[in-house]
Amino acid sequence: MKLSILFSTVALALAASPVSLGADTPVYKDQTAPLEARVDDALSRMTLREKIDIIHAQSKFCSPGVPRLGIPELWTTDGPHGIRAEVLWDEWDQAGWTNDSCVAFPALTCLAATWNPDMAALYGRSLAEEARYRGKDVVLGPGVNMYRTPLNGRNFEYMGEDPYLASVMVVPYVKALQNEGVAACVKHYALNNQEINRHTTNVIVDDRALYEIYLPAFKAAVVDGGAWSIMGSYNRYLDEHCCHNNRLLMQILKGEWGFDGAVISDWGGAHDTPQAIANGLDIEFGTWTDGLQDGRSKAYDNYFLADPYIAAIESGQVGTDELDDKARRVLRLLFRTSMASGYGHGSLCSDEHYAAARRIGADGIVLLANRDNTLPMNLSDGARVLVVGENAIKMMTVGGGSSSLKVQRELTPLDGLREALKGKATVDYARGYVGDITGEYNGVTSGQNLADSRTPAELIEEAVGKARGADYVVFVGGLNKSPGQDCEDADRSGLELPYAQDDVIRALAAVNPRLIVVNVSGNAVAMPWVDSVGAVVQAWFLGSECGNSLADVLTGAVNPSGKLPFTFPRRLSDVAAHAVGQYPGVKRADSPIHDERYDEGIFTGYRWHDSRNIEPLFAFGHGLSYTTFEYGQLTADNSEMNPGSTITLSMPVKNTGSRAGAEVVQLYIADNESSLPRPQKELKGFSKVYLQPGETATVTFTVDKTALSFYDPARGWVAEDGDFKALVGAASDDIRATLPFTYRNETAQNSNNNSSEPVSGALGCR
Ligand code: BGC
Repeated sequence: MKLSILFSTVALALAASPVSLGADTPVYKDQTAPLEARVDDALSRMTLREKIDIIHAQSKFCSPGVPRLGIPELWTTDGPHGIRAEVLWDEWDQAGWTNDSCVAFPALTCLAATWNPDMAALYGRSLAEEARYRGKDVVLGPGVNMYRTPLNGRNFEYMGEDPYLASVMVVPYVKALQNEGVAACVKHYALNNQEINRHTTNVIVDDRALYEIYLPAFKAAVVDGGAWSIMGSYNRYLDEHCCHNNRLLMQILKGEWGFDGAVISDWGGAHDTPQAIANGLDIEFGTWTDGLQDGRSKAYDNYFLADPYIAAIESGQVGTDELDDKARRVLRLLFRTSMASGYGHGSLCSDEHYAAARRIGADGIVLLANRDNTLPMNLSDGARVLVVGENAIKMMTVGGGSSSLKVQRELTPLDGLREALKGKATVDYARGYVGDITGEYNGVTSGQNLADSRTPAELIEEAVGKARGADYVVFVGGLNKSPGQDCEDADRSGLELPYAQDDVIRALAAVNPRLIVVNVSGNAVAMPWVDSVGAVVQAWFLGSECGNSLADVLTGAVNPSGKLPFTFPRRLSDVAAHAVGQYPGVKRADSPIHDERYDEGIFTGYRWHDSRNIEPLFAFGHGLSYTTFEYGQLTADNSEMNPGSTITLSMPVKNTGSRAGAEVVQLYIADNESSLPRPQKELKGFSKVYLQPGETATVTFTVDKTALSFYDPARGWVAEDGDFKALVGAASDDIRATLPFTYRNETAQNSNNNSSEPVSGALGCR
């Protein structure tokens, strides 16, 4: 809250010092004129061709401005974890610049795992500074598609399974980015929950799940965050591609949410001129028209929103209203970014950005299990630490698809530990397994040679030999952003760890109880050995400062405080999308399209586990600390609520251990009885508190009717009369206190149960 107030003050100060250009300055150039007046003025001066030009790409990542009027180009960039390296004008190949290396920030799953909106603001601001320095106007991110299956190759780019958590975390990211004059392009709107068949999947989902699960984070980014652009997704919904989908773009985004920004197609996500015209697409990027692969520049004229659009206008098939609306939205985006003045020049690879990456990484690492206080490492003189596993030495910033980065530097886990333990312990290394030794994406190479020709048995033998007698064994494995292992355009084939890592872990556990397993991934993985290892750490893809963030937590320099943003299931069949949800879709006999019914409806993630009484491996919201927190008595200022009132809950939390640390106190709401089935509980508030040993803080949550409401397809958002429970705890499966309360719609005080009053929007409490 404080941060955002500070940011808006800065923004106001910047906006208050425009350059005065004199009396005959055209309105569109006048920084003091209202945005809409400038847009109107610019539009009135543009030719049909110029309007068409600004609504489609002129290169891989940029669209033209209006040179004649001095309106500059619009430069986009991936996103969402750092600023992508420059590619050639018409190709994905590298441009070969030597000044386009960036800082890679931790993947968005890690950011979500911080449960810390201040970290999201720090992330957005740091990223924006890198973008500005590199001359980028739009960052293609953040991604807020909901985690529906642990097989989705792009979950690492998103913010987990819970709409409330993702909503709260996305807003400061968007605001902080845009406060520096860089547009967020929230992606991939919508229902893009898997990579397999991503262009041909037609999602069939009921309105309740759409509004309660899949849309809230997008809505928060747009309505609360004020996102200036949004990216349509590749998949279909209601049998229309989402880049030109009437319901999603015209009715919901631009209608219900009042979005005034620009809808950008995913790269190659546009497929049809009449639909693109009518259904809300504003800028087309990446379409592979004839000749584009070969880099022939005229290919862009063949885009759906280029010459074919002009032809449709000239033949009288369509008018120009839609075109004016699109051009207006693009102009708004240009005026907000590339044509805005008063913002700083940004900075690239600054110490502050590395520090931010390190801090966010350490804040998001989740301590999943810690038998007998294996962690933090407690090293006496002459201690020996053995590090095992390919992910301890593999650079992870290269790979994964469009979020792949060219970094100025990346500290691996092994190097981070070596650095942190210098003078305290000897650190040895054994490979353990060979996974994917390649390190290249779109011409960016990690430069590492990871080749190792030994057999799996030889590698295990070496690791086990070295593990005997070591004070600690740190196994660093998991997935690695190669195709099928957390990567765009492919899903994983199963929940298991690849490359027979389970065998290595079991062999190590058999000879050394002080085995710490560090899982690097953006997804849940199966852990059949979980009860035989000392500690398990979920380390995400941590970016440039990976080794430092991880070492900070393992050595205890930072007390872990991350919490899982999604459920770790024990088996794939425990996941709703796999149990009942038709993943990965059913191919139509007569077409390439795959229909996929989300039959699980709103019961995804912990909502599903709760409803079926399935014990997870690690629950949503779970995460341990090196200290202990005692929850006190949950109290409320009232036991009854109505549409005009709120209830404030208070929970004292005490650090009862000997280390300072942070706890994420979570509020879930349960509806005792409702006209439609509801989850047993849903996250509706959280607060991260940092406490010194012995210190107590009282966390408060203000609950309003939106926290009680659900989406009834017949009535919209409703809060029904009746009894509810507030559940406060340390995880979705670790509720420490419960308090009943009652809700009455004022207008229905004396009528039957389940009377209700529609509410507008529902984000829950803040
Ligand atoms: C991805 C987007 C990305 C775009 C540009 C697409 O393949 O789905 O997320 O922003 O490429 O690289």
